[in-house]
Formats: sequence, C-alpha cells, structure tokens
Amino acid sequence: MRKKITVVGAGNVGANCAMWIAAKELADVVLVDVVEGVPQGKGLDLLQAGPINGSDIRIAGSNGYSESKDSDVCIITAGFPRKPGMSRDDLLIANYEIVKAATEQLVKESPNAILIVVSNPLDAMAQTALMVSKFPKQRVIGMAGVLDTARFRTFLAEELQVSVENVTAVVLGGHGDTMVPLVRLSSVSGIPLTELLSKERLDAIVDRTKNGGAEIVKHLKTGSAYYAPSAAAVEMAESILKDKKKVLPCAAYLEGEYGIKGLFVGVPAKLGAAGIEKIYEIQLSDDEKAALHKSAAAVQELVDVLKSKQ
Ligand code: NAI
Ligand code: 2OP
Repeated sequence: MRKKITVVGAGNVGANCAMWIAAKELADVVLVDVVEGVPQGKGLDLLQAGPINGSDIRIAGSNGYSESKDSDVCIITAGFPRKPGMSRDDLLIANYEIVKAATEQLVKESPNAILIVVSNPLDAMAQTALMVSKFPKQRVIGMAGVLDTARFRTFLAEELQVSVENVTAVVLGGHGDTMVPLVRLSSVSGIPLTELLSKERLDAIVDRTKNGGAEIVKHLKTGSAYYAPSAAAVEMAESILKDKKKVLPCAAYLEGEYGIKGLFVGVPAKLGAAGIEKIYEIQLSDDEKAALHKSAAAVQELVDVLKSKQ
C-alpha cells in the first residue's frame, strides 16, 4: 500500500521536503499552501522530475485539505521564516495562528496521522499542534535536533577533515540560542571530541552550531535555511514510515523526563511506526542539566505567552 505525506506550506522548506520525499520515493505527496497556484505549480514541476529521477510517486498541490485525506505523516512548514535581525521568537504569534489553523484542518482529514512540526518557534509550535490536535504525544514531533546535530557534525567533520558519517553528535534542548550541544557525548567513531580538539576550538564550534540558523539568515537576507531543514524533516518521516526505529534528536512532549513537565524540548527519541516509541534519558552532569533547564525555561516563556492569548 502506498504511503502518503501531506506537506503544509509550499515555500522553501515545504517544497524541498516534497523534493526529498520524491527523490527517496518515500510516499505520495500532497503540498498545501494558501497562495493560489504555488502548490499546484511546484507540485506539477516536481512530478515532471519523476521520469528523470525514476521516481513514480504522485504529487498534488492544493489550496485546501481534502486531498490530504488519510495521510500517514503530515509535515507542517507553514509560516513565516526569519528575516535578518529577527529571532525565532518574533515569529511566535503570527505562526501560532497559522499552525493552529493547519493542524485543525489536517486532523479532520487524517485523524491517525503522525505530525512533524517544522514551523518556528519550533518547540512552541509543536506544543500548539499537540494541544490543537489532541493527538497522543507520541504522534506530534518537532523537527530541530536533527538539523542542529547535522550542523554540529558538519562543522566537526570540516574541522577534523573526516567523513560526516563518522561524526555522531548529541544536542539537547529547545531550538534556539539556548540549545545544548553535548560535547561529552559526541564523538568521531567513538573517539571523544576532547581527544581530538582543543577546548577553544570545541567552544567555537559549539557556538557556531548554536548560531547555525542565524549564520544562514545573514547570508540569505530574505529568509532562512531550507535544504538541511527539509532533509531533516524527511529523515524523521522516513524512520516513521519504514519503521526504521532510528534514534534521532527530536522535540518531544516531556512529562517528567529530565525533570521537565508539560513542555516540548529536544531529546533523543526512537522514531518508528507509532511515532515517538521511546525517549532516552541520559545521565547529565550538573552543568549540562542546568543548561538544559535554562533552555526549557526559554521554551516555557513562549508557551506562557501563547497560553495568555488563548
Ligand atoms: P517560506 O516563506 O519559504 O514558506 C512558508 C510557506 O507557508 C509560504 O509558501 C506561505 O504561503 C505558506 N503559508 C503561510 N500561511 C499558511 C497557511 N495558513 N496555510 C498553508 N500555508 C501557509 O518559509 P520557509 O523557509 O519554508 O520556512 C517555513 C517555516 O519553517 C518558518 O516558520 C521557519 O522559521 C521554519 N523553519 C524551521 C526550522 C527548524 O529547524 N525547525 C528550520 C527552517 C525553517
Ligand atoms: C534554522 O535553524 C531558521 O530555525 C531555522 O535554520
């Protein structure tokens, strides 16, 4: 039976999600956007790449949700991206309304889907999708850690001139400047980073990772990153649809894990057919714990703003 993914938002991230899904022949795709003609045009263009890439998936664009019926996975990328000087948090209220509306429509058509949220500010938008959908927490997941660890791995591989495939990294916390890249648990084929790089170089790479999104906004000037973010969302969808059970850093709704309750925060999670099948609780040092709780507090501030608006 063919799988189906709806991608809401046919902008930079959404259209590239569709492209990666098509390239992997992962599922049929429905692209939904409010702008008339854009999802239809991009969908048709991508469909016509099928014969070239040998990909037989169906892609349809729409301004409504009826075509999204019975999707297995829905990726929500609708919303405004950051502009230079803007923080992810500036997007809070505008994107809250968009994610709320998109979630309401999606769950009507696909009550059994798994939602992957990409829109920023990520952790607060994932919380919005969970509250609006009333889905079990295992079926609402935020994409941030796969991207943040990919940035960390890229910078480390570049610095050490080794394959990106050999670099494994752990990043915890919210998707923002307070994220917590864990040097202690990251390695190159098991070799601790502290044996490979000086503290100064490691601090610089951690700092670059934390500001990885802003670095790209500064270059692009009119928007934010989209190739790596879309690849990250599709890696999560693939693990779910193929029941691969990859352990990936995901924004998950915590109910006591790491001492955090009632909040989406980035943690290592097993992604399979049921969505989040397990959250891994790592023993943290006091400093790591403090950094994670600081990051969670930043997410809580945004969620409190949203609660005061409801
Ligand atoms: P974009 O501006 O290229 O695309 C956004 C699309 O959403 C536009 O096509 C717009 O028409 C559409 N849209 C707006 N309101 C809508 C609605 N109510 N229903 C359906 N579609 C609607 O922006 P881009 O670069 O694709 O980024 C999308 C979002 O993803 C932003 O909020 C951005 O900050 C976030 N993002 C998050 C990342 C993460 O790591 N979690 C990484 C990269 C981007
Ligand atoms: C990023 O990290 C903007 O959140 C987006 O690139």
